[in-house]
Parts: sequence; C-alpha cells; structure tokens
Amino acid sequence: MSERIDVRLEALSEKTVVEVSVPPPTTPSGKTFYLETFGCQMNEHDSEKVAGVLFERGYRQVRTPAAASLVLYNTCSIREKAVQKVFSRLGEFRGSEDQKTIGVLGCVAQQEGHKIFRRAPWVSLVCGSASYNRFGEMLNDLESGATRVTGLDTDTDLTFETEVTRRDHPFRAFITIIEGCDKACTYCVVPYTRGPERSRTSASVLEEARRLADEGYTEIQLLGQTVNSYRDPSPRRMRFSELLFAVAEIEGIRRVRFTTSHPSDFGPDITAAVDAHPGICDHVHLPVQSGSTPILHAMDRTYTREQYLEKIALIRSARRPISITTDIIVGFPGETEQDFDETLTLLDAAQYDGAFCFMYSPRPNTPARLMDHAVSETEKSRRLQILLERQRQIQAASNQTLVGQTFDVLVDGGGKREGQWAGRTSSNRVVNFTSPQSGLLGHYVSTRVVGAGPNSLVGEHVI
Ligand code: SAH
Ligand code: SF4
Ligand code: F3S
Repeated sequence: MSERIDVRLEALSEKTVVEVSVPPPTTPSGKTFYLETFGCQMNEHDSEKVAGVLFERGYRQVRTPAAASLVLYNTCSIREKAVQKVFSRLGEFRGSEDQKTIGVLGCVAQQEGHKIFRRAPWVSLVCGSASYNRFGEMLNDLESGATRVTGLDTDTDLTFETEVTRRDHPFRAFITIIEGCDKACTYCVVPYTRGPERSRTSASVLEEARRLADEGYTEIQLLGQTVNSYRDPSPRRMRFSELLFAVAEIEGIRRVRFTTSHPSDFGPDITAAVDAHPGICDHVHLPVQSGSTPILHAMDRTYTREQYLEKIALIRSARRPISITTDIIVGFPGETEQDFDETLTLLDAAQYDGAFCFMYSPRPNTPARLMDHAVSETEKSRRLQILLERQRQIQAASNQTLVGQTFDVLVDGGGKREGQWAGRTSSNRVVNFTSPQSGLLGHYVSTRVVGAGPNSLVGEHVI
C-alpha cells in the first residue's frame, strides 16, 4: 500500500519520479540532455531552471538516458528509499562504454558530496541546490573535459534566480520565494541539503509574477520549505501575507497558492489575506508531524499539540471555508502507543482534507538518528495503516458533504477519453468531470459535484 493517502496535493516531500516534459527540438545540436527529477516541488522547479540554462547553451532535451550526452538526476534525500532510487539509477551506467557525462544534482548530491565519486566513479558532476548559481561555470568545465566537478557550498546567501527557466506547465507556474531552512527538526535533512534560509526580494518575486502573467500563466504557486517564514530582504520589508495579496492583485493572475507553511510562523494575517482576496487559494498545507506534545518536543517542532490546534481553530474561523492538509510521521524514536493515539485523536480534532503520512526514516547527520527507543519497521507499518484508514474515513465523510455544491476548477487533465476531464478547485481538490465541450485544458470551468470518494470528487460541467 502506498504511504500516501492524498493525491490532491504535491506536498514538499518525496514523490514518485517526475520526468520533465520534453518540448520539441528547436536547434539541431550534438549536445543533448536527459534530466530526471525526484523529490518535492522545489526540486521540480530547480529542474525547470537548470533545463532553461541548458537550452540557452544549445542543448536539446531527450527522453531517454541512452540518447543523451549529458544525463542529470536531480535527487531527494528526505527518506532512505529516495536515496536508494538514485543509486539504482546510477548503477545502470556501471561498466558502460558510452562517453556520457553523468551528473547528480540536488539533495543527495549535497548530502553525499565527494562520496558519490567513490561509489559511482563514472559520475562527473555533483552539485547541490545552493550552488546552482554556478551551474553555467560547471558546464563550461565539463565541456572542457573536466571529470570531477563539484558545487557543494551551503554558506551562500544567494537564491538561484534566472530568466531562462523552461517551465513544464503551460498555465501553472512555480516561484521559489524562500530557499533553504533555518528550522532544526531533528529528523530532517533539509537544513543540511538546502542550506540556510534566504528570501528573495519582494520586488524580484513580483517582477517574475508579472512576467508570468504576461506570458499567460494564471496560477502562481509560491514555494518554500517554510514559505510563510518569508522575510523580504529589501527595505520594503513586505510581509508574506502582503506578498500573497500583491501577487493575487496582478492582472491576469487568477490563483495564488503557497506551500509549505510552518505552524510556528503561521499568523492571523495569512488567514485574513485568504479571506480578503478570492484569488488567494483557500488551502493551507500545515504539517503537524505528530499529535503528541512530547514527540513534537523531541522533533524540535517548536509548538505543542494545543498551540497547533489553536492555529487550526484560527484558520477554521475564516469567513471562507479553508481546506487544511498536513504531513505526519509515524514511528519517531520513542513514540509510544499512547503518543500514537494522540496523533489519531488529533486527526479527529483537525478534520484534515488530506494528509501525507510517512514512516520515520533515520537520516544522516540528523540528531534523531542517535535517539534511543527506535520503533520497529513492523510497528511503524502497522501504525501507518491505522493512520491511513482513519484519515480515509475522515476524507470520505467530509467530501460527501460537498455533493451538490458548485466549484470553479482549473482544467489540467483529461480529454483523452471523450468528454472526461479533470481539474482542481481553489481548495486543491481534484474534480473528475464530464463535459460535452472540447479544448478545456487550461480553462476555468464551473463544475457541480455529483459524487465523492476519499481522494477526489466526481462532477459535471455546468454550462
Ligand atoms: N518543510 C516542510 C516539509 C519538508 S519535508 C515542513 O516543515 O513541514 C516533507 C515531509 O517529509 C515532512 O513534513 C515530514 O512529514 C516528512 N519527513 C521529513 N523527514 C522525514 C524522515 N526522516 N522520515 C520520514 N518522513 C520525513
Ligand atoms: Fe525539515 Fe523542519 Fe525545515 Fe521542514 S521545517 S524543511 S521539516 S527542518
Ligand atoms: Fe525536497 Fe527531498 Fe530535498 S523533499 S528539499 S528534494 S530532500
């Protein structure tokens, strides 16, 4: 069974492999690249930027590693399984006679560094996300024949911005507003793999959003591991909630999403902004991780169960109903049956619209790795199943209450089977719907919900 119950939202977490879509070749060139991305949306967006740099330099994208002169894996290290996937991909080149250049980017690159060259000596580039500013220089070195090129700084105060981003999606665009993470959750590799927190200026974010609107994008997704910890480094000192509002005000932008929010930095001004502007999506992803205060303390999450539930109450008090989703880890070291029970009762109290549930995975460098009272894999798996089932019931019941209601969706799928489409509501729910009309991709259409399952809704086009 999958670890994930909610397919409605691509949280900032390891996901299934995403392949960057391949646009038709433009310039005939001997330089070809294959780029495969693992992990969260921040990685997906980094890949879009890296791909942009490659296109600028005359590279052509191909669909298979076999057809490429440069093979890049943009990697994730959030759980051990994600790392294993990368090394299994690299293993496919063992003993190959091909003269390919192989590079490892992203979080595994940063975490493993030079060790990757020892484990897979056929790799020539190892580069973490905090060094992408130097990606062009590194390509120069590779093209001049260098066989060991690295970018492993984390002490940078720069964010990686480029105007050449090659976006994968025609109407929904990511903007990273804050890179890295300054929290210190004891289970998490991100502060080590993506460096310290650094925000972009509000002016540069708004300029990019305006450019995207001019290019026809209507949905903007603001990204950060703790997106709401955003701190404008310019004298303007725009607050995160003000930035949300300002992006939503841009002509042509119909929706602004944001992910992921950290509970400790979630203030009433964000809920007020969602209330005040219909263009700000009525959805908050607010990872709780555990319902037990002692475990939250051991995780160094900086809030208690009660403080977290106060945030939920605040969001629920908004005039617009706001959908809330979360991330949960089961089997953190020392988690007793009673602690786990607290997580189950928190699910009942919070009534989440979606939850990503994970079994704790010990990670290199993290303090939790050295903690006593590890929970066995069998027990973690048992707890995960119980959690998933409880959440499934909650979603099935809450989605039922939506039957009969009408929602605007941005159509982002379907059309393959005649009359069948899929789109997302502003609250990020998926509606699979029927319509006699064609050419709906990228359009906003009104749908009436006629059926509901735990993970999606069934609707019909209201014409
Ligand atoms: N920055 C976000 C989440 C980042 S990682 C936040 O603070 O909420 C996405 C999710 O992966 C986390 O919310 C957590 O639930 C999960 N995760 C992180 N490290 C993990 C680990 N070592 N084992 C299992 N799950 C983990
Ligand atoms: Fe990891 Fe915690 Fe930072 Fe999220 S807030 S990225 S879980 S350290
Ligand atoms: Fe994202 Fe995975 Fe890195 S979740 S930040 S790609 S460790």
